[in-house]
Amino acid sequence: MKIDCTIDGKTLTLSLNSDKPLSLILRENMGNEETVNHCNGMMCGLCTVLVDGKAVLSCMVPAFEIRGKSVITFDSFRRSRDMKDIEKAYEAVGAYPCSDCYASRSLIFHSLVDEGVTDRNQIIKELSIVRCHCLDAESQVKIVQKAIEIRRKRYVRRTQLT
Ligand code: FES
Repeated sequence: MKIDCTIDGKTLTLSLNSDKPLSLILRENMGNEETVNHCNGMMCGLCTVLVDGKAVLSCMVPAFEIRGKSVITFDSFRRSRDMKDIEKAYEAVGAYPCSDCYASRSLIFHSLVDEGVTDRNQIIKELSIVRCHCLDAESQVKIVQKAIEIRRKRYVRRTQLT
């Protein structure tokens, strides 16, 4: 099956089995083994990517579902202005994800910040897909709240400059 999609800003037409998981497409077809895991299904949460801006477990997304969509991996996200907001929030709260879950958790934080999610329970639930226990629940809630504040200030500054 031919699948048109965008991965990390590149427009591609991929020839794939329609059921191939996105995590394997990224690892095997795109050479992205460093920041995307594949554990055979919902065991680790370390395969998170953004699909049309929303954080998802890429091992649960079959190839046919990315047709016409934009996929962003941590490889490109780490260089974005949005990631800077998340890094500033880590610094402000004084809590950081470990190297194992840094990529996945940062993408989920971004997705929550982008949607403006401030509800404590929802934040904890969304982040629970990452099975690593390096960050406690309260720190995660504080990081999202701080990052929302940082991003709002950035947007206000940008609006004032235009
Ligand atoms: S690869 Fe482990 S949950 Fe997706």
